Amino acid sequence: MKSVLLLFGAMSLVISSASFADMDLAKKSGCLACHSIDKKVVGPGWKDVAAKYKGTAGSKDLLISKVSKGGKGNWASMTGGAPMPPYSPRVSDENIEKLVDFILTL
Ligand code: HEC
Repeated sequence: MKSVLLLFGAMSLVISSASFADMDLAKKSGCLACHSIDKKVVGPGWKDVAAKYKGTAGSKDLLISKVSKGGKGNWASMTGGAPMPPYSPRVSDENIEKLVDFILTL
């Protein structure tokens, strides 16, 4: 019981450091099966994604297209070449844009 409480405490700390609504959307969309904010799971940690693309012209469009259509190769040295699955139309264009905006603020 105590360890469950500790785990919950740790999780809420992680979640409160990001926007709750955006994390909720990421969770509902299934992203968190393969991503976390600050470490590699199957895909790269989203802070690493933000660090790679922040301030680069066109990066928002590139990431929207990657989340919509899927793809692989940009993180092969970290992920061993695992692919990012396509999310359109499972996730609406509007929500894909929200998720990418959120990732780029990390
Ligand atoms: C089945 C596992 C899996 C799921 C689920 C998943 N991803 Fe990914 N994601 C990956 C992998 C693997 C990569 C690295 C792809 C590459 O090497 O280009 C990646 C890469 C990315 C990137 C960086 C793209 C790039 O080209 O640099 C973003 C942004 C991203 N994912 C967002 C999302 C979002 C948003 C969701 C939910 C809608 C999601 N991912 C769900 C596995 C996943």
